[in-house]
Amino acid sequence: MNNILQVKHLKETYKDKKQEFQALDDVSFTIDQGEILALLGPNGAGKTTIVSIIGGYLIPTSGHVILNGQDITTARKRPNIGVSFGGDLGFYRNATAKQNLQFFADLAKVPLRKQNKEIERVLSIVDLLNVANKKVGELSKGMTQRLHIARSLLNNPNLLLLDEPTSGLDVEIAQSVQKTIKNLSDSGISVLLTSHTMSEVEKLAKRIVILGAGKVFFTGTINAVFSLAEKEVNQKPKNLEEAYLVLAPKLRRK
Ligand SMILES: Nc1ncnc2c1ncn2[C@@H]1O[C@H](COP(=O)(O)OP(=O)(O)OP(=O)(O)O)[C@@H](O)[C@H]1O
Ligand SMILES: [Mg+2]
Repeated sequence: MNNILQVKHLKETYKDKKQEFQALDDVSFTIDQGEILALLGPNGAGKTTIVSIIGGYLIPTSGHVILNGQDITTARKRPNIGVSFGGDLGFYRNATAKQNLQFFADLAKVPLRKQNKEIERVLSIVDLLNVANKKVGELSKGMTQRLHIARSLLNNPNLLLLDEPTSGLDVEIAQSVQKTIKNLSDSGISVLLTSHTMSEVEKLAKRIVILGAGKVFFTGTINAVFSLAEKEVNQKPKNLEEAYLVLAPKLRRK
């Protein structure tokens, strides 16, 4: 079996003082070695919740996450999985890109004497070596997004979880990030990608998981989702966006 990751029957119930909310209900899927699997679904479907559980930031109410055959659901040590939530948060804006990565290299347990090399390696993958000594607060959105990916690559994980890595980027920069993701996967790294950009998903992923209201609505190839949409409306969808829009009404939370 070449599954690098198995997600089994995940449930997540968020509880605050007054109420409970079931964000995930029996979510299962697998990711193969070197595969880019896209996780799709409307706002609030549960994508980030899944990323947080696999990344070890959130303990599921029930269910299991198996990485390379080992159950990591309640592991004491954070697994070597690269996680990028993206956005403006997560870096010290007054420190340089390099200083930020030094901090995260410590957290990722990169030995001190290897840190400079490792930071150069990850900055070069995302083409940011030239801004290593710039303050993060002075970087553009696209550069910050790429810095998030660089951070997730510290300590050479073979699984990356990229939560909306191109959200808010211009078309050209988004394309360069997509290329980076493709290259990483070509080098054998497995990727779980969440995205609302269907053209990006079509370009990068062969298989997708569509989530609706915390449940897996569909798992399969892009071609299979085309067939599913075609059955609904008796018309071949032109692209993934069209297919997704056919299915979207079924994905809403009641
Ligand atoms: N800490 C929390 N406490 C309570 N409810 C939460 C919490 N985090 C998320 N939720 C709820 O759980 C559901 C799933 O949220 P999640 O962020 O996983 O969705 P998502 O698919 O990533 O959405 P988006 O596409 O908008 O990023 C949402 O209804 C959200 O409001
Ligand atoms: Mg999200």
